[in-house]
Amino acid sequence: MTATIIDGKATAEAVLARCREQCGALAAKLGKAPGLAVMIAGDNPASQVYVNNKIHACEKAGLHSQLARFPADASETQLLDAVAAFNEDDSVHGILVQLPLPDGVHAAKVLDAVAPQKDVDGFHAVNMGNLALGLPSLAPCTPSGCMRLLKDAGVTFPGKRAAVLGRSNIVGKPMALMLVNAGATVTVCNSKTPDLKDETLRADILVAAVGIARFVTGDMIKPGAAVIDVGINRDGKKLVGDVDFDAAKEIAGCITPVPGGVGPMTVAMLIANTLAAAGAQN
Ligand code: GUN
Repeated sequence: MTATIIDGKATAEAVLARCREQCGALAAKLGKAPGLAVMIAGDNPASQVYVNNKIHACEKAGLHSQLARFPADASETQLLDAVAAFNEDDSVHGILVQLPLPDGVHAAKVLDAVAPQKDVDGFHAVNMGNLALGLPSLAPCTPSGCMRLLKDAGVTFPGKRAAVLGRSNIVGKPMALMLVNAGATVTVCNSKTPDLKDETLRADILVAAVGIARFVTGDMIKPGAAVIDVGINRDGKKLVGDVDFDAAKEIAGCITPVPGGVGPMTVAMLIANTLAAAGAQN
């Protein structure tokens, strides 16, 4: 079997085109463009790339963006003060604190200082709690993007087994909650799960978010499964996912590539969340 390759770049473009239309209508209502504030501390090269992509997507969709840069030795107080100022700023409808934050800064404290209605990353305890309860919420962008790709690929959830590899607050946990809410039977695994292959071989839907290059080998995939690869790892000059793509595409029913799969969707869902936040604040 040769898998259908899920084109995340094309889907992200479609989401952004729709966002651009919604943004125009919303700007007319608000009397100003919806605004996103992005905070970044330190000089992590991957974070710089991600943040630039997010600012670029704002421009593309017609949102106003502002970037607040902080040095690697920024204090927790400095970051908390900036969050408090953005919470009060009516031109800012969404606030994103790029992770990781510098050593010594308590990230959970900074994320929880963001007003829940401006928390376009969906990381605040209130939004995570609503997601866990199956209530409407601003939901984390990467798993939202994965769900959109699965649905667009025609995947259904009730009666299906899903395995999520990875248990981070950013991807693994919210991804598992979204799959549970959609009716799937979900197992959350990590790189040290005993008999991991037994778990993955039963999975009709496999989401890999462990951050280890080509961790999921072809023999771990159930024939015909939907495989979503969240990993972005460097192999020399090449970007590779958490799945051995060349082997997996011969076994899976559909699969996201790296690059061009989940990555562009994370950014598109951020813009969609910011418009939803702006609409709700109006
Ligand atoms: N660092 C890696 N992924 C993310 C993300 O989705 N949001 C934020 N804020 N930081 C990240």
